[in-house]
Amino acid sequence: MIEIFAQVTDLTSLPLFRQKWLIDLIYLISVMLFILGLKKLGTARTARQGNFLSMLGMFIAIMVTLLNHNIVSFQLIVIALVAGAVVGIFMAKKVVMTAMPDMVAIFNGFGGIASSLVAVAEFLPKQANQTANNDILFYVTLILSILIGTVTFSGSLIAFLKLSEAIPGKAIMVTFSKFLNVTLSMGIIMASVLLYNDINQMHFFIAIIGASFILGITLVMPIGGADMPVVVSLLNSYSGIAVAMTGFVLKNNSLIVVGSLVGASGIILTNIMCKAMNRSLLNVLFGGFGATSLVAEANGGTQGTAKSSSAEDAAIIIDIAESVIIVPGYGMAVSQAQHVVKKLSDVLEARGTKVSFAIHPVAGRMPGHMNVLLAESGVEYDKLYAMDQINDRFAQTDVVIVIGANDVVNPAAKSNPSSPIYGMPVLDVGNAKSVMVLKRSLNLGFANIENELFFKDNTMMIFGDAKKTVENFLTALDELG
Ligand code: TAP
Repeated sequence: MIEIFAQVTDLTSLPLFRQKWLIDLIYLISVMLFILGLKKLGTARTARQGNFLSMLGMFIAIMVTLLNHNIVSFQLIVIALVAGAVVGIFMAKKVVMTAMPDMVAIFNGFGGIASSLVAVAEFLPKQANQTANNDILFYVTLILSILIGTVTFSGSLIAFLKLSEAIPGKAIMVTFSKFLNVTLSMGIIMASVLLYNDINQMHFFIAIIGASFILGITLVMPIGGADMPVVVSLLNSYSGIAVAMTGFVLKNNSLIVVGSLVGASGIILTNIMCKAMNRSLLNVLFGGFGATSLVAEANGGTQGTAKSSSAEDAAIIIDIAESVIIVPGYGMAVSQAQHVVKKLSDVLEARGTKVSFAIHPVAGRMPGHMNVLLAESGVEYDKLYAMDQINDRFAQTDVVIVIGANDVVNPAAKSNPSSPIYGMPVLDVGNAKSVMVLKRSLNLGFANIENELFFKDNTMMIFGDAKKTVENFLTALDELG
């Protein structure tokens, strides 16, 4: 069967497929599909098309690669394809929404190790015939591909373990790791130069791989588990750069362009996340956020008493509201409340209430977290408003229902210059006539600071699991008729 496949696909013998211009043209088409795909991924409405175009681009790129090169063994390729597809489908089917960042982290790592292994496979035969250091561009990009790919792999592994709570998420080895990172980086540069001078010194090659692996660990270990989404986005960017370097090694334009696209979009996303958290990238990477508790003494501790209400009392207010804005946060993901939230939105609209959703750019734990959950439950895109679009509307809104959000609605970001989140853009929910906050307790959110919103006169706390509380709202509204 595999033999037949090999014969059927052996189009490399056809004169047309020996034409380099044709192969390059097909690569160019696949690259254009990636760029178009990325553009369409920019908005929720066109994201599916974007995914499809990118998949098509990848399919074309794989096919033309199989046709273009002298394949060593189709058997191995088929085995790898089947194994990869089975693992990928299994993981994608099994993953729960809250574990999505973990899966992205580990997949990034696989991308990194793939680039690194390709570079090693290119190096070994050239080292054997003493040509690995003939071309400086080849040598430098090869070392960079191994370095960045391996750092991405081990760093992503640590990110995965922290996110899945297999190892403690808190920031550890903060001071020690800085010294270690500098020492390892210097060591890698020295070993690369020495290996270039004498390509037979294979222990330097092994040292480069080993030090890169340790560097990935020491770079990510000091970063708190809750900052991992930013790190994962950065590692995603690294994996793109590793691919681009591999493109130079293999002299494959498609890999260079695609790797650069991933590298650039990863760094843009990292930047957006840092801005929305009002943190610099350096602060995320080296600040040791989460190493110590930041419970804001600056906030003056707990302020006054929070008013606790029942879902039934809250439902009476919701029942007479003309406008409602729903603000989802990480707690909605934890309780998987998105489906009942959609039901609540439908019920309210059927009663004539105007319902909108306010989405903070870093609500939840990964970019687009809330959009994905709400899309999964079928909330129409035109009901979702970004922070800038909706912030002015809170003052004219009857009821805001905050579902498992905390930091993204914390007024201290605007009112308290000594707060760790001061300067972070937040949703001005406190301006609404009534604010209902659905969470289990007065516990702190990701930034580990008190939230003065919970103690405001127009705020009522409805304690309990968000999904259960929304179900109680629905029952109470039903009883109100
Ligand atoms: P958080 O500030 O983390 O607050 C989430 C709240 O959800 C918690 O206070 C928790 O309170 C509540 N909760 C948890 N489980 C719940 C459940 N089953 N039912 C009801 N409530 C529940 O979330 P946020 O407002 O979405 O803010 C996100 C934070 O993460 C920001 O500080 C942001 O900077 C950070 N961050 C975001 C990202 C991205 S890309 N989104 C990446 C890194 C960091 P209880 O325990 O009292 O229930």
